[in-house]
Amino acid sequence: MSLLTWKDEFSTGITQFDDEHKRLIGLINDLHAAMLASRSQEVVQDVLRKLVQYTQIHFRHEEEAFARTHYPQVAQHKAQHDKLAAQVQAFVKSDRGVNAHLSIDVLKFLKQWLLEHIEKSDKAYGAHLNAKGIQ
Ligand SMILES: [Fe+2]
Ligand SMILES: [Fe+2]
Repeated sequence: MSLLTWKDEFSTGITQFDDEHKRLIGLINDLHAAMLASRSQEVVQDVLRKLVQYTQIHFRHEEEAFARTHYPQVAQHKAQHDKLAAQVQAFVKSDRGVNAHLSIDVLKFLKQWLLEHIEKSDKAYGAHLNAKGIQ
């Protein structure tokens, strides 16, 4: 069973970002599956690395759209992205990121963070970007 399932209520109103959020959810589920299957540290680490890389790409895409459209909440939003990136980097560098058992904490944290960030911050940019012609 998947840890996280996409729901229509997660939609930001921006197709590209909804698709990227779906991919992030998919990667969190992959990480969960790798841990449940007690896959080797190497496999878990590899999935975690993919998730970290894709998160950075996604944040960059959102921030580029903010810059292009002069999104007024850019500073607060980018601060949340930067904080998450720093926290995840710290996990990856610590034992918690590579130990298959302790990584459950990382996974719960990522799941919680993503859902809250989409709900409170990402959904807030939808109307602004729509008004700038981005669907
Ligand atoms: Fe965001
Ligand atoms: Fe996002």
